[in-house]
Amino acid sequence: MSQIAVIGTGYVGLVSGAILSDFGHTVTCVDIDEDKINGLKNGIIPIFETGLERIVKNNYYYKRLDFTTDIKSAVQKNDVIFIAVGTPPADDGSADLQHVLVAAKDIGAYMDSYKVIVNKSTVPVGTGQKVKATVQSILAQRGVGYPFDVVSNPEFLREGSAIQDFMHPDRVILGAENDRAINIMKEVYRVLYINETPFVETNLETAEMIKYASNAFLAMKITFINEVANVCEKVGADVQKVAKAMGRDGRIAPKFLHAGPGFGGSCFPKDTKALAKIARDSGEVMSLVETTVAANERQKLKMVDKIINAMGDIANKNLAILGVTFKPNTDDLRDAPSLVILPELAKRGAKLKIYDPEGKKEGDWRFSSIKGSVTWCADAYEALENTDATVILTEWNEFRNLNFDKFKEIGAGEYFFDLRNIYDKKIMVEKGFKYYGVGV
Ligand SMILES: NC(=O)c1ccc[n+]([C@@H]2O[C@H](COP(=O)([O-])OP(=O)(O)OC[C@H]3O[C@@H](n4cnc5c(N)ncnc54)[C@H](O)[C@@H]3O)[C@@H](O)[C@H]2O)c1
Repeated sequence: MSQIAVIGTGYVGLVSGAILSDFGHTVTCVDIDEDKINGLKNGIIPIFETGLERIVKNNYYYKRLDFTTDIKSAVQKNDVIFIAVGTPPADDGSADLQHVLVAAKDIGAYMDSYKVIVNKSTVPVGTGQKVKATVQSILAQRGVGYPFDVVSNPEFLREGSAIQDFMHPDRVILGAENDRAINIMKEVYRVLYINETPFVETNLETAEMIKYASNAFLAMKITFINEVANVCEKVGADVQKVAKAMGRDGRIAPKFLHAGPGFGGSCFPKDTKALAKIARDSGEVMSLVETTVAANERQKLKMVDKIINAMGDIANKNLAILGVTFKPNTDDLRDAPSLVILPELAKRGAKLKIYDPEGKKEGDWRFSSIKGSVTWCADAYEALENTDATVILTEWNEFRNLNFDKFKEIGAGEYFFDLRNIYDKKIMVEKGFKYYGVGV
């Protein structure tokens, strides 16, 4: 059993900490956000992630999991210290490492015995060495020489299925400089290790690159099918069928071949930009990744054009917006396509009636600049009342089975923009809708 501290109690830190405690370890989750920590101590889970609440409450009750803002005691009483703080994009697209380096400084300032420092945040190649140098320099200032190792252990969980992903990962990446650290990490992940999860042991730099290369590849795959979809619309092909047939090829595989309004979320947008910057800084150009970033921006705006090309002037038109989160089963709106699409629609005078099962809390402040054009609704049918068009932006399950018989009754219009392709065009046209998907 390991004694673990997790610095940063966000999507990754909280999920990792909760599940590692569920694996039987003693885990202290640390954050600088006092409200978050106090809330967690009182059973308030700050994010929406299916299954998380039960795991947090259960392990907190059995004292395997605790929450604190006191980083000093968390560092001193634990042997393995995860860093899971945010690495948002800086203005030049690079990953902003300030939070990671503050965490490293704190560890250096308070450690009083051997520690394994585990980088779980997504960080540019070379950050493991930076963390090492930062800790070393603080220890030197203190005039002490406690030993420590740095491990790169990037996380691949997806919001919306984070618990399942963390408990059943496709692989665990361990980048380290010696076997002592690797063996301690294998103990941390013993449950996965004995379940024969593939472990990739490598150096720090390779582990850091694996994460960026994986995310950029997936982002590229989405962008590829989005561009295929745009051509399909022009030439009368059906991207759904194209993607399905492509996916049957084992070399291609079916996942991440769903055409839509562009990728979003807290990872792909920032990680593609960061990888492009890492490449440029190293003297190489990753033109595919740079093109992916640009094409994804275009894709979001194409959705606005799609609506305007179909409806004409949208000034004072009422649009029912179903979904604003970057994907279903999360409350996260970071870099969601809605953040570009909705302001563009509002700029052209449209009135937006929004419903999202979990997106209102964050959406309230994220759409504050267009709040005069926005009405938040309690459910899909309230949003659809007296509207000219329906716009599906996020494929929440509850939008997959809308009761179309109700549409006339509540005055929902005939335009239907299914930006996630969750309905069959032929059936929708038969029902009398002016239906527009992406690439169909
Ligand atoms: N969200 C995902 O789906 C996902 C998946 C894989 C990897 N990642 C990576 O994991 C990292 C964390 O992402 P996230 O989505 O969990 O971020 P987040 O913004 O949800 O959480 C970060 C937390 O760190 C806290 N924090 C910041 N500085 C701190 C400090 N010095 N001491 C203690 N706490 C501090 C913040 O208050 C916040 O609660 C990022 O690098 C991200 O790229 C995220």
